[in-house]
Amino acid sequence: MENISVIDAITSRSSKRKFLNKSVPKDIQEKILEAASMTPSGANMQPWIVYAISNKEVLDNIGNDIIKHIDGGGEIDQFIQYYPINWINPYKKRRITTGSGLYKHLEVDRKDEEKRKELWHDNYRWFGAQTVFFICTDKSLIEGAQGALIDCGAYMQSIMLAAQAYGIDSCPQGSTTEYGKIIAKTLDLPGNLALLYSVVLGYEDTSAVQNTYQPKRASMEEIVTFID
Ligand SMILES: Cc1cc2nc3c(=O)[nH]c(=O)nc-3n(C[C@H](O)[C@H](O)[C@H](O)COP(=O)(O)O)c2cc1C
Repeated sequence: MENISVIDAITSRSSKRKFLNKSVPKDIQEKILEAASMTPSGANMQPWIVYAISNKEVLDNIGNDIIKHIDGGGEIDQFIQYYPINWINPYKKRRITTGSGLYKHLEVDRKDEEKRKELWHDNYRWFGAQTVFFICTDKSLIEGAQGALIDCGAYMQSIMLAAQAYGIDSCPQGSTTEYGKIIAKTLDLPGNLALLYSVVLGYEDTSAVQNTYQPKRASMEEIVTFID
């Protein structure tokens, strides 16, 4: 691909949740990371620290450790709190509409706890993908400050758009944010690092119904105040 427009990359990207059993070639990973390195950051601090993992055993170990922790009744074990503690509208409504929309799309009964759990666990099986980028930052940057999180969020989008341009599909994951400390332990990360999120990268399974789900966005009227 490579020569798709930025607008096309933005509008054609969507989160994929079933991938082919194929890792992303190293040279393409490097191109994606090279492009993403140009993400702007406050004072050019470049607070992102990346573990680009395509080793099956390591990915399996991370996923197994998280699932074992969850199944053992373990609590969320995170460096940062991604989701709000108190959901209020319109955000709560959007969350519910998006979640129930996906279950409906997959013909899964919302009350089918077992199936819902299975779908959530798919996150820790990397949706079948063989390459996952884990993004960390230095803990010192987020002690009493949030700017590095803004920068790392922009970096996430750069990764996904660059991937899109190279024909690579993706899914951002806050599901790993929630078990960041487990991942840090499995990967034996240096003690100064906090895991923020991951991005699954690969080749979507085009026959998978979950990959055709496209949640709607709020209208411009709802979001934007123009002051001309
Ligand atoms: C920071 C962040 C964390 C997310 N975490 C997850 C996740 O853990 N699992 C998942 O399936 N989707 C996750 N998503 C994907 C969102 O559900 C998705 O972006 C949203 O519903 C809009 O759909 P689209 O990405 O297909 O346009 C996450 C997205 C973002 C930006």
